[in-house]
Amino acid sequence: MDDSNTAKITRRQGTKTSKPISGLFHFAYPCRDAQETTDFYENLLELPLVSFMLVPSVPSTGEAGPYAHLFFEMRDGSYLAFFDLGKGVMPEGSPNTPKWVQHFAMEVDSIAEVQRYHDKLKAAGVDVIGVVDHHFIKSVYFFDPNGLRLEITSRTEPEGYIAKEAAEARVRLKDWNVFKEKTWGTKAIVK
Ligand SMILES: [Fe+2]
Repeated sequence: MDDSNTAKITRRQGTKTSKPISGLFHFAYPCRDAQETTDFYENLLELPLVSFMLVPSVPSTGEAGPYAHLFFEMRDGSYLAFFDLGKGVMPEGSPNTPKWVQHFAMEVDSIAEVQRYHDKLKAAGVDVIGVVDHHFIKSVYFFDPNGLRLEITSRTEPEGYIAKEAAEARVRLKDWNVFKEKTWGTKAIVK
């Protein structure tokens, strides 16, 4: 697959520099087994386990533990984190949402790298969808052992694409609110 154009695209800094939130620190999800999750993320996705905490009780709420909290590091210093509550229970995800909706997307440098992950995951017996062309990114989709849907993607956006999208976003939001109400009788929530 030709990635000569996309290889030149580096990670964007966003549309404005004044945003107070600078980026992802971590996203956390339950796992059914810390060892299984570590093997998957280290061996297949090449994300190293960089922290494993055994926690006696929940610091934010005081709820009883113990549980394990583990972190896999991405190249930019952000993390994908998991909780193993020790009971071997498969997380159920969102019960009223289609499985393709809730997902976590990770960026790689090129379409060739997306393809490499596709091939590696398939060879390991993982069900992989894609490579899907979204016209500004190309992605593959699959589930981790916890039922967490993952996306590996690389940007193919032409110069100025996001700025153009940003300029139209508010108008499209208003149009969607009207469409939703007309189609399903669902009113946009305005507080
Ligand atoms: Fe996505």
